[in-house]
Amino acid sequence: CGIVAYIGHREACPIILKGLHRLEYRGYDSAGVALLNGTLSVYKKKGKVNDLEKFIAGKDLHAQIGMGHTRWATHGEPNDVNAHPHYSTSERIAIIHNGIIENYASLKTHLQQQGHVFHSDTDTEVFVNLIEEIQSKNSCSLEEAVRLALHEVVGAYAIVVLSKDAPNQLIAARKGSPLVIGVGQNEFFLASDATPIIEYTNEVVYVNDYEIVVIRDGRLDIQSKEAVQQTPYIQKLELALDSIEKGGYEHFMLKEIFEQPRSILDSMRGRLELKSGHLNMAGARAYEQKFIHAQRIIIVACGTSWHAGLVAEYLLEDLARIPVEVEYASEFRYRNPVLSERDIVIAISQSGETADTLAAIELAKSKGATIFGICNVVGSSIARATDAGAYTHAGPEIGVASTKAFTAQVTVLTLLAMIVGSKRGTLTDTKLRELMVELDMIPSKVEKALQLDTEIKQISEIFKDASNFLYLGRGYNFPVALEGALKLKEISYIHAEGYPAAEMKHGPIALIDENMPVVVIATKDQSYEKVVSNIQEVKARKGRIIAVVTEGDEVIPKMAEFVIEVPATSDVLMPLVSVVPLQLLSYYIAVMRGCNVDQPRNLAKSVTVE
Ligand code: G6P
Repeated sequence: CGIVAYIGHREACPIILKGLHRLEYRGYDSAGVALLNGTLSVYKKKGKVNDLEKFIAGKDLHAQIGMGHTRWATHGEPNDVNAHPHYSTSERIAIIHNGIIENYASLKTHLQQQGHVFHSDTDTEVFVNLIEEIQSKNSCSLEEAVRLALHEVVGAYAIVVLSKDAPNQLIAARKGSPLVIGVGQNEFFLASDATPIIEYTNEVVYVNDYEIVVIRDGRLDIQSKEAVQQTPYIQKLELALDSIEKGGYEHFMLKEIFEQPRSILDSMRGRLELKSGHLNMAGARAYEQKFIHAQRIIIVACGTSWHAGLVAEYLLEDLARIPVEVEYASEFRYRNPVLSERDIVIAISQSGETADTLAAIELAKSKGATIFGICNVVGSSIARATDAGAYTHAGPEIGVASTKAFTAQVTVLTLLAMIVGSKRGTLTDTKLRELMVELDMIPSKVEKALQLDTEIKQISEIFKDASNFLYLGRGYNFPVALEGALKLKEISYIHAEGYPAAEMKHGPIALIDENMPVVVIATKDQSYEKVVSNIQEVKARKGRIIAVVTEGDEVIPKMAEFVIEVPATSDVLMPLVSVVPLQLLSYYIAVMRGCNVDQPRNLAKSVTVE
């Protein structure tokens, strides 16, 4: 979910609505606002922020304090009633909440016994009634009631609370879900990330877990859950406004796909110095000895970041000769994993907020492992929870389906594997030099792959009505097959499966007939000959083959119905190039099917609940 709030001298509602649009990538099944102006009014609606805007048009929205929410449903289906903000029973207090309250059922029973009335199926409504109950029972301030309520809830939250009885004040708190404060001139902004804030001020304070924020009379107070005063740490943000706008492209996703030559370059900037032959990465330097002596690397991530982790498994084993395991953060954290102090855990996350990845880090930390974070969002929770790491510097990624963040993650992981390999002596200077030269050319090769745009549009037209797709690859291209399939299912809702090409004959081959499109990533690498045999197996069952091949390939074009030619590069670097046509294929198919590419149904960009 996305939350935004304002308190100051301007009209709050337009600022909140604009902010909600910027945060819509975090969830978009319903939206709402609460405005405090003597009265406390709540307006909310199922659907997108646009639907909310239509709903409130013509209403009296005058207020200088307010808050808004865009929802990704956890408890309760998306509808008007379950949308946030939620009132307390007396309608004197309202709340917006991102997160999950795990003990909501027992709290709800208790509150019902005390006479509180519930209208929605959400855990959030329990939260606001708990605050009301505590305030009336203890006759305390709102601030104190919020503080005491936080001691009773179990789970994750970022909340903002407004009360009719506290007309000049806004209260917020966080545990496990992100919250940023924008500090302006006698005005304050609150949001799940900095994008709604950046056009007003670049001074921000990241709220930490278990902190409570009180803003009143132009003053910002932060205290711990134990009511100890904290000193706000104001940071300056460098985020350009145009980087969070579409800049002429029809969708953010397309803009982000086309940004890749640039974003890959940005992720290497200052790290790859071809002239001097140096590789630099501050985080890797900090952990140099640990990497040299690591007995094992465990990679934890979710979604596309997990796929980048799989590429890294190949890279790190190949170049640095360290055993690697790649884990879904959600499985790892509940499996009682065996960890030691000589293990390094690499956590990969675009948003730096994914709840499972964050929890996996905490678990690994508690077992004494060394944690290395790879995040895109500067100042995010994961970046702050890790002792060392590397930012991907891909710039804000708004499209829900990850594209440029993936290639930036793979670039950073490639650099890391090269650095560690050279320090451990498993990568010879000659091979290192070769790879550096090749890596330096990747942005221009990606640029070339992007020129396949028109060709891919034509292929998309032919396959747009398919109901299933199979993606096959081996070696470095196996994670690419998984990522290609994920992209397609995320945004076009076509069922797609990625598989190691050879493993296909142990199951998916049963699905192949003359209607089944099979995308084979078959670039010229170590396993090329083997993949050619796999293509024969598909062809023998009349599958329709779309092959991604290396330029100049003369064998596969005779076998495949369609070929997409990408520039040649080293096996190790091929994922950075071969994934690009797959991103475009999923994009065009989704557009042709009339899907909402940037905001696919049921998904969210940043999953801050487990
Ligand atoms: C969500 C997004 C995916 C993303 C995954 C992990 O499911 O829709 O695109 O790959 O979360 O997110 P992270 O921010 O941790 O990389």
